[in-house]
Amino acid sequence: MPTQNNRRPTPAPQKVLVKIAATTLNPLDWKIQAYGLYVQSYPHIAGCEAAGTVEEVGSEVQNLAKGDRILFQGDFANTHATFQQYCVVPADRTSKCSHIPDNISFDQAASVPLGLATVATGLWSLHPDARSVKWPALWEQECATKFAGKPALILGGSSSVGQYAIQLAKLSGHSPIITTASPHNAALLKSLGATHVVDRSLAPADVLCEIQKIAGGMPIEYVYDTISSTDTQVLAYDALAPGGTLLLTQTAATPDDKAKDGDGKRVVFVFGSAHAPFNRALGLELCSRVRSREGSYM
Ligand SMILES: NC(=O)c1ccc[n+]([C@@H]2O[C@H](COP(=O)([O-])OP(=O)(O)OC[C@H]3O[C@@H](n4cnc5c(N)ncnc54)[C@H](OP(=O)(O)O)[C@@H]3O)[C@@H](O)[C@H]2O)c1
Repeated sequence: MPTQNNRRPTPAPQKVLVKIAATTLNPLDWKIQAYGLYVQSYPHIAGCEAAGTVEEVGSEVQNLAKGDRILFQGDFANTHATFQQYCVVPADRTSKCSHIPDNISFDQAASVPLGLATVATGLWSLHPDARSVKWPALWEQECATKFAGKPALILGGSSSVGQYAIQLAKLSGHSPIITTASPHNAALLKSLGATHVVDRSLAPADVLCEIQKIAGGMPIEYVYDTISSTDTQVLAYDALAPGGTLLLTQTAATPDDKAKDGDGKRVVFVFGSAHAPFNRALGLELCSRVRSREGSYM
């Protein structure tokens, strides 16, 4: 995939120029090419999240200054893409949000935006058009009790999205938090909040059996399938209690015979861009709460 070097645009009045220190590779980067997703014209510069230093601020920008270390989500316009040395970011998108604490490296910070946004927008974006379950966000009073003691099942806990799904489930009070992963990732996932890690290489029927044993008869009303392959979607759907909610990161592929009439299972295919018009409000709110200086969730 082409990358572009040494391009140093002058930011418009409401934008900032960022010198990129770290960016990430995501499945999206190859899917754009393989499936022709999202990109309207070529040549296209890829890369959708990064961390770096503000190099120059547009004349109307109030909230950022030269030298600020920030993290941000890019988008599909070449000037906003992150596989290049300099990238332009609209200042309102970074609004206060994204200063990087001193104890977080650029590499670590660059891996935050997409995974976090994919989980947070799918859970909390309240816009009528949002692909979200519209639950109360972590900072809402109702969240303090709504999920307490209720199981969460996160399929693919060691994926980027999965690690945020575990952390937000933990912060929301879910318990137990059951996840599937390779065993060598179990310690990491427990450090993030998973209470049980089921070996994903077991046969699907055995994985389901383990999950049900751990839930101990409690209905699993929340499943986040961060992998969303056909196999994991079937597992997710089977584990989900009637009336429960399933979030997917890829298009629904659950066979029709699973979607039985009357089981009331709600399936939401999330769209993890905080820049999508229907996610903007949540994106800005989230950013202001991720900021580091007055205590943070990060
Ligand atoms: N809809 C959206 O807006 C959106 C946004 C972001 C991502 N996505 C999609 O979400 C998916 C995950 O993306 P990501 O960046 O989080 O992935 P990632 O970080 O590349 O995840 C890789 C990890 O997933 C785990 N994994 C793979 N197959 C698994 C399975 N069958 N069961 C359990 N774990 C499995 C493996 O963990 P182990 O090492 O533990 O085996 C692997 O190391 C991708 O398809 C991506 O395109 C969608």
